[in-house]
Amino acid sequence: MGQYPWHGLLTIENESSIPVSLQIANAIIKEIHTGHMQPGTKLPGVLDAAQIFKVNKKTIEKAYSELSSQQWVNILPKIGTFISDSLPAMKYQSLKNSSQVVISTDPNYSLEEHHIDRFSEITNGNEIIFNDGLPDNRLIDHALINRTYRSILKLKSYRKLLSYTTSLGDEVLREVLAKYLNGTRGIPCRTENIMITRGSQMALYLSMSLLLRKEDVAIVSDPNYFFADETLKYLNADIKKVKVDKNGIVVDEIEALCNKGKVRLVYVTPHHHHPTTVTLSADRRMHLLELAERYRFAIIEDDYDFDFHYKHNPILPLVSVNSNGSVIYIGSFSKTISPSFRIGYMVAPKKIIRQAADLRKIIDFQGDTILERTIAQLIDQGDLQRMVRKSLKEYRKRRDFLCDNLKLELGQFFSFDKPSGGMAIWGKFSNDVCLKNLSSTARENNIVISDGTPYRSDNCLRLGFASLEPAEMTNAVLILKDILLKQVRE
Ligand SMILES: Cc1ncc(COP(=O)(O)O)c(C=O)c1O
Repeated sequence: MGQYPWHGLLTIENESSIPVSLQIANAIIKEIHTGHMQPGTKLPGVLDAAQIFKVNKKTIEKAYSELSSQQWVNILPKIGTFISDSLPAMKYQSLKNSSQVVISTDPNYSLEEHHIDRFSEITNGNEIIFNDGLPDNRLIDHALINRTYRSILKLKSYRKLLSYTTSLGDEVLREVLAKYLNGTRGIPCRTENIMITRGSQMALYLSMSLLLRKEDVAIVSDPNYFFADETLKYLNADIKKVKVDKNGIVVDEIEALCNKGKVRLVYVTPHHHHPTTVTLSADRRMHLLELAERYRFAIIEDDYDFDFHYKHNPILPLVSVNSNGSVIYIGSFSKTISPSFRIGYMVAPKKIIRQAADLRKIIDFQGDTILERTIAQLIDQGDLQRMVRKSLKEYRKRRDFLCDNLKLELGQFFSFDKPSGGMAIWGKFSNDVCLKNLSSTARENNIVISDGTPYRSDNCLRLGFASLEPAEMTNAVLILKDILLKQVRE
């Protein structure tokens, strides 16, 4: 057996989720890749190999059969197992250390620069994310979601769900959602008006792509949701910015722009404006809808956090009183369940939905059908609504707590109005505060806050309260206070 230097080739990990036979097959493939095993080499017989790896002979048979089905080896009955002769020549470059660059940073061809210049939110997992407004995934009933998901895999029809299907999204979720949106938000939609997307972002991209041709005018608020702006920029829209005050986007300014030239779309977040959190007043809502009808532009209504309103019942969306098809309504389960689920939706005239589904096919044939069906079941059984009620109660307490705490500890530096909904507080730091410095020093102390760049606004940023428990918020606020006091002393 000297010719097979296999001793020490592999330490079998019995705890691994990878079956032992596959671990062995993978180790042999690696040896072939590295050139340590040449085409034509005979592998040890099953019994010998079983002895070497200290495993059952059946495990070796499985490993060899796996290698054979991947065409790495040829099994010749009664003769032996040989490394295939027809493998492409492989040149091996050993990785000396993990920082060694294997693939060059730049491609070997020209590439137009496209850079999304956003403050990095990648975290090490130990930080307090005090940024922007995220849901608290500790409040989600994971066990229930897990059970529901598993129950769908046990359905007789589950195999159908594992196949290619429509890019419109799971039919059952679309049906359930039509009823749900009708009952909770007064949206007069049918299944045919709904497309399930991977989060709101996909719906934003698809709807904006369908509407815009190069240099078409798109109106947004100033400041605005960063990723809506980036999508419009990517699509080469002619972006016009309109002020926001305490009653939301200033619709008179939109009218003035309509009088100057053709407007193709207006992107709004009426329920809780992003980033400032203000609600669009009733008279402005009616004015905006009237303008859309008169000037025939599309309104993209992004209702990313409809469920989280603390003063009274949520305000009904624009789309609920619009029957002429001006509004494309976008929602998401990122805030009610989790952003990692990547499930959102778009409600629009059937023609838009059909075209959006076609466009989606270019990058993504369909969504995660089983997850979509899981959500349908959670809604149908009333579980989602129960989870939302629980979170809403907790988030209201957290909002009140953070507002009090900020006034007490950071009153001299940070001014804000208490938000009536959402997951974050929007406020302005005094002019002597350097947000870039505050953000980077906070990060050194494991607190993640924005440096203000996504909002492109006058020393303003959002501080999220929903995902943090009071002790975490107190800790974060005290650390910020400490940094700010040092900053003004210097
Ligand atoms: C204005 C706005 N729209 C949409 C979203 C949600 O995006 P998604 O559903 O793609 O996770 C967010 C998330 O923070 C948001 O702030």
